[in-house]
Amino acid sequence: MLLSLAASRNILFFGGKGGVGKTTVSAATALRMADRGQRVLLVSTDPAHNLGHLFDRSIGPQPVRLSPGLDGLELDPESTVEAHLKEVGAALRRLMPVHLSAEVDKHMALSRDAPGMQEAALLERIAEVVEQARDYDLVVFDTAPSGHTARLMALPEMMSVWTEGLIKRREKSDRFNAVLRNLGRDNSVSNKMFGGGDEEPGEDRESRIRRLLNRRKQRFTGLRESLADTARTAFVIVLAAERMPVLESIELHEQLERSGVHTGALVVNKRLPADVQDPFLKERRDQEEQYMAMLDASLGALPRFDLPLAAHDVSGLDALRRFAELLGPAP
Ligand SMILES: Nc1ncnc2c1ncn2[C@@H]1O[C@H](COP(=O)(O)OP(=O)(O)OP(=O)(O)O)[C@@H](O)[C@H]1O
Ligand SMILES: [Mg+2]
Repeated sequence: MLLSLAASRNILFFGGKGGVGKTTVSAATALRMADRGQRVLLVSTDPAHNLGHLFDRSIGPQPVRLSPGLDGLELDPESTVEAHLKEVGAALRRLMPVHLSAEVDKHMALSRDAPGMQEAALLERIAEVVEQARDYDLVVFDTAPSGHTARLMALPEMMSVWTEGLIKRREKSDRFNAVLRNLGRDNSVSNKMFGGGDEEPGEDRESRIRRLLNRRKQRFTGLRESLADTARTAFVIVLAAERMPVLESIELHEQLERSGVHTGALVVNKRLPADVQDPFLKERRDQEEQYMAMLDASLGALPRFDLPLAAHDVSGLDALRRFAELLGPAP
């Protein structure tokens, strides 16, 4: 079931409460699809990166080969923020008069720790990965615990509205500049004042700024469209059969719906065997059933896939491949 979802989509996100098994289940799905001959990219968006721990090797912001057909990368928020600020800073310097460039630097330094900065930068990288997703048959995102991911999924909308606003303001100032030029002002003076002069040949400063803003807007709109495209993208909520993960999953599903992201399946991980004899374990299994009833009452319409609690933690490629067999026969 989970594998048929993976076989029919280009992009899968795995999200859910901390520690429920997002990394293990997303990596197992990715590995299984790669073993069947698909080209798969596994991407961690979690600042606490645990893909490297799972595969027992270091994985960086550039794709590395994890297994035949399977590449992996970890989006690093720190370096992503640095690269993002550099790009935004350069764009801002072009927008602002030259004598304000020290102000721009100060603003950028403060922005580094501004709330939402890491998310915005991370989102831009996710958008880039999604743009390149067509090089792979499947891109699997292993995300950070629910709250972080839900905010991230709501961001493309906000970012495109924000960029749209900036473009509108640019259009206004373009008209203003055109009036100035018509009044006979020397264009090179305004270029000096506003730090222009590094345009591509034949391109004036205004069109360059508009091109930058438009590219950014397209990136966010593209991401939003990909996220909302149910034929291409699905979100998989991973949870455990416990009270808090169930409540958090119901909330995450609602938040995703509000952001226009379709939940394709629920994976209930670490389930106890149904035939336990031990009274203590039996009591826990009964409790699991109660939470499953609670889950079904809210999200019963979604396909649900249960995975058993394994005897051991999952660590290393061999253990992951054995765990992946629990996902059932390949479609
Ligand atoms: N079905 C399972 N049976 C036994 N152990 C499991 C199972 N699924 C995951 N684990 C173990 O549970 C621990 C947490 O799993 P994992 O790291 O995949 O969770 P996570 O949701 O990604 O956590 P985080 O929120 O910290 O990123 C790991 O030690 C993993 O090996
Ligand atoms: Mg994880």
